[in-house]
Amino acid sequence: HPSNDQMEGGSVLERANCRAKGGAPGFKVAILGAAGGIGQPLAMLMKMNPLVSVLHLYDVVNAPGVTADISHMDTGAVVRGFLGQPQLDAALTGMDLVIIPAGVPRKPGMTRDDLFKINAGIVRTLCEGITRSCPNAIVNLISNPVNSTVPIAAEVFKKAGTYDPKRLLGVTMLDVVRANTFVAEVLGLDPREVSVPVVGGHAGVTILPLLSQVKPPCSFTKEETEYLTKRIQDGGTEVVQAKAGAGSATLSMAYAAVKFADCCLRGLRGDAGIVECAYVASQGQIQGKPQKTEKVRNTLDHSFGWYAHVTELPFFASQVRLGRGGAEEIYQLGPLNEYERGPKQYKILVEQRIYHLINMTQTGLD
Ligand code: NAD
Ligand code: LMR
Repeated sequence: HPSNDQMEGGSVLERANCRAKGGAPGFKVAILGAAGGIGQPLAMLMKMNPLVSVLHLYDVVNAPGVTADISHMDTGAVVRGFLGQPQLDAALTGMDLVIIPAGVPRKPGMTRDDLFKINAGIVRTLCEGITRSCPNAIVNLISNPVNSTVPIAAEVFKKAGTYDPKRLLGVTMLDVVRANTFVAEVLGLDPREVSVPVVGGHAGVTILPLLSQVKPPCSFTKEETEYLTKRIQDGGTEVVQAKAGAGSATLSMAYAAVKFADCCLRGLRGDAGIVECAYVASQGQIQGKPQKTEKVRNTLDHSFGWYAHVTELPFFASQVRLGRGGAEEIYQLGPLNEYERGPKQYKILVEQRIYHLINMTQTGLD
């Protein structure tokens, strides 16, 4: 019998490469941090995605093991593993989409901000690789604190002259997934029928579910609104506490990451009408328009102040339309109810701004 890698028509690897090169339809996707708690189920689910033709799995540990395991799945994508920084550029070359769950997770008692020092450095190194090897890829950034790792990635891309704000997306899909689940529970509906926009950011009070815009249309009592808002904002902490030192959300996160990545790939393919929430540069920055926030703030009332701040904040989680260029359009927040624009929620903006400034100052990138 011919050995596995010496079968007729070239080695198994050559034929896999040939299949990958030879126009098997689909996109090339890299996962950085693929051997981690999120990375492994994410890699498995992306291997099952028919839109993916090539899947690169990169990590600083155990990438060969995870790759060997995943590569036995009889789905279309060709899987290759890359271990350690010397292989980073090879892992990234030619990629259409790069998903980054690399970094340390929280333990009970920590905030996402406590992860900043370690994860900022990791994200920086990985994004430098992107500037060298796939500067046009869409980037889905999962590593926490998302509110600050996304601005860091932006600075790295700016430095290299490759920054396109439309292609850099912080993944906040888990907030939406949680919101859909918890709201469905309260309404007694199937979560698949429920859609809740979640805006702001991805940490504590910066996570703002817009319960006034839930589909299908519905209403909540004050108690329900307060319960749901708090449960959605504290969803990450709920999992961190339940795991009691063994990390943070990994399985629901992998599910959310794949749901979001699939939307990005369908957007890249040219599908119309794909709208999801993501943490992105604000519209003014995306369109390169000068910002008129001073004027807006002085002339409009408190509720409209929201809109002023959305454009004033450099990054904000909003509903975005995904297309061939990434986040091609950012939607306004839409009509907010009294609770959503009340002083308590207004604090979100202030916190988000302070958070960003502190963290950026620490990196010396800003
Ligand atoms: P984990 O520790 O299980 O896995 C992280 C992986 O990253 C490990 O395999 C590790 O080897 C790898 N890694 C570390 N340094 C690296 C480097 N320089 N290059 C490549 N890989 C490197 O952690 P996890 O539970 O998978 O969480 C990963 C990150 O995702 C954490 O920062 C966590 O807070 C964050 N997270 C974000 C969300 C979100 O909604 N955006 C949700 C859950 C977790
Ligand atoms: C989450 O929301 O589950 C993640 O951001 C992980 C965490 O630390 O809460």
